[in-house]
Amino acid sequence: MQKEKVLVTSALPYANGPIHLGHLSGAYLPADIYVRYKRLKGDDVLYVCGSDEHGVPITITAEKEGVTPQVIIDRYHNLNKSAFEKFGMSFDIYSRTSLPIHHKTAQEFFLNFYEQGILNEKKTLQFFDEKVKMFLPDRYVEGTCPKCGYEEARSDECEKCGALYDPSELINPKSKITGETPSLRETSHWYFPLGKFQMRLEDYVKEMSEKYGWKDNVIQYCNSWFKDGLRDRAVTRDLDWGVKVPLPDSEGKVLYVWFEAVLGYISATKQLGEERGDPDLWKKYWQTDDTKYIAFIGKDNIVFHTIIFPSMLMAWNDGNEDKYILPQNVPANEFLNFEGKKFSKSRNWGIDVHEFLEIFPPDPLRYTLAANLPENKDTDFYWKEFQARNNNELADILGNFVNRTFIFAHKHFNGEVPARENLSEMDKEMLTMLEAAPDKIGDLIERYKLKDAVLEMMNVARAANKYFNDSEPWKTIKTDKQKGANTINICLQTIYTLAELFSPVIPFTSDKLFKSLNSKPTDWYEAGKSVLPAGTKLNKGEILFTKIDDKEIESQTNKLGEPEEEKEKFNEIITIDDFAKVKLRSGKILEAERVKKSEKLVKLKVRLKGETRQVVAGVGKFYSPEELVGKNIILVANLKPAKLFGIESQGMILAVEDAEGKLNVINLPDNVLPGTEVR
Ligand code: MF3
Ligand code: ZN
Repeated sequence: MQKEKVLVTSALPYANGPIHLGHLSGAYLPADIYVRYKRLKGDDVLYVCGSDEHGVPITITAEKEGVTPQVIIDRYHNLNKSAFEKFGMSFDIYSRTSLPIHHKTAQEFFLNFYEQGILNEKKTLQFFDEKVKMFLPDRYVEGTCPKCGYEEARSDECEKCGALYDPSELINPKSKITGETPSLRETSHWYFPLGKFQMRLEDYVKEMSEKYGWKDNVIQYCNSWFKDGLRDRAVTRDLDWGVKVPLPDSEGKVLYVWFEAVLGYISATKQLGEERGDPDLWKKYWQTDDTKYIAFIGKDNIVFHTIIFPSMLMAWNDGNEDKYILPQNVPANEFLNFEGKKFSKSRNWGIDVHEFLEIFPPDPLRYTLAANLPENKDTDFYWKEFQARNNNELADILGNFVNRTFIFAHKHFNGEVPARENLSEMDKEMLTMLEAAPDKIGDLIERYKLKDAVLEMMNVARAANKYFNDSEPWKTIKTDKQKGANTINICLQTIYTLAELFSPVIPFTSDKLFKSLNSKPTDWYEAGKSVLPAGTKLNKGEILFTKIDDKEIESQTNKLGEPEEEKEKFNEIITIDDFAKVKLRSGKILEAERVKKSEKLVKLKVRLKGETRQVVAGVGKFYSPEELVGKNIILVANLKPAKLFGIESQGMILAVEDAEGKLNVINLPDNVLPGTEVR
């Protein structure tokens, strides 16, 4: 098998808060599984990450707490670094973008673009908050859209109607930091001409995605950007905190956080080289054609890794001898939610990684998250599922199998791997399955189908349990000891295979297994080939998983706050004239009867002004016909007639569902006359 040189990065998390389980599922656990697997295969892997320590949100947190940004980033860098460690993330380096080596690298890129004449300077008017004396980035200004009247529009763009406008046109602007009305000040910024790279980026995405099988969500996302057309992007900001713009007269200006953060992957690799006494290490990965670069991210980061970062590398490569490689794949995940709702720090909905690991060991969490990765759609973490995966899968299937095998080996075979001979069909079948497993699972991991890979791993353990049961060693040990020996030999080989196959997902458990087997991992593809020689002296089996009881789970759910109510988004805004097209009238129900063969529908006679209508309504489950007669309802009176169960309905009555799911007919006061307009 040809060895690969692989550079892997995970999105650099902001050092502005603790990472939670959702972050792990998005960009960290998948990368770690991939990397651990690649290392076992013998590939030359470098895995780089670190804290993203610039950007406006960090300065705002600092402002709120009355401390410097440095205090904030130190706190969260250390917290997250240690949480990642406890979780078993196997980064080669976890660096940070506040290091001088990063500032230097980012400035070098900027200057190089500047000197190549790529960047354009433009003067614009930008909102300025007089109270905190700072220019406000777009998302810190809110106002009313001049086109559609949407009240939460950004300073230069309305997310409701899609309008782009000049900040001076925004109606009633407010600073989101202080709530004050900001002033407009002139400022000048450097722009990167993304549009000039559009054709090459399209070719790049097309080529890579076809050759290396990019995920559909990523391709679609890129295509929608291309379809809109790429525009110039400002790469500088008016801010104190960040990488200073390395030009004269640039006081108070820093590089836009996204421009420099993606370069953090490169500077972190440089930092690693420094630490290892090999300053050119980074070139071996970033500037040689035979490196395969995989960037793991969550879906909110796609554009930065498939469009912005590649265009920056292209721009560098255009003007320099030393050429960077571009990402070969960007396997972005969707989001993990928590018990059906978005994670929310302020509402205490969710759990942070460091808190979790104070209560439970890392492997059950890794396994649960891995079995439920949001690879193609958003998924949820549920405490109940965590408990079930731990108790019914890890403990009852994997743990139980390992435990039974070790007990037998110690009790009947002197704590050694017994020799095997004259294998049965069942034995051979088990061995065949073991031999095939690494290939099968490896292939899934290579294609980033990690969820499926985890399922296959557990399937091996399931098969092993069944093999143990069907072989009945507790009987054969008495009647035909060699048969029992064969079973235990094969079960021990299976534990070895499981230790290796599971090791990317549950590395701490895998270490214990190897220790108990008194052996070490081998090349991934050898792991199914009965690696343990007969006579190998075994160590005592260790307890692998502890069951989690209902009380523990309850106490966790009790700690939760209220989930965030997600504000409903309306795709289409209608005008008052649009609304006026709908003619709502009061009506009195004169008669009601059930529609035959339907449990939902009732046929009504409704009195309006000067006419009576026949209306079919879907409230039959909740009202008897008698209850409906006499009600004063609201009718959509100019709705095109439709047939329901062959009966014509000349209008629709309004109803609303209550918290118990009951549909309630809207009931007007008795003294409203039939046919009155509802406005
Ligand atoms: N800090 C960003 C986030 O958490 C990710 C930055 S990824 C990088 O969303 F490429 F810019 F480093
Ligand atoms: Zn608008």
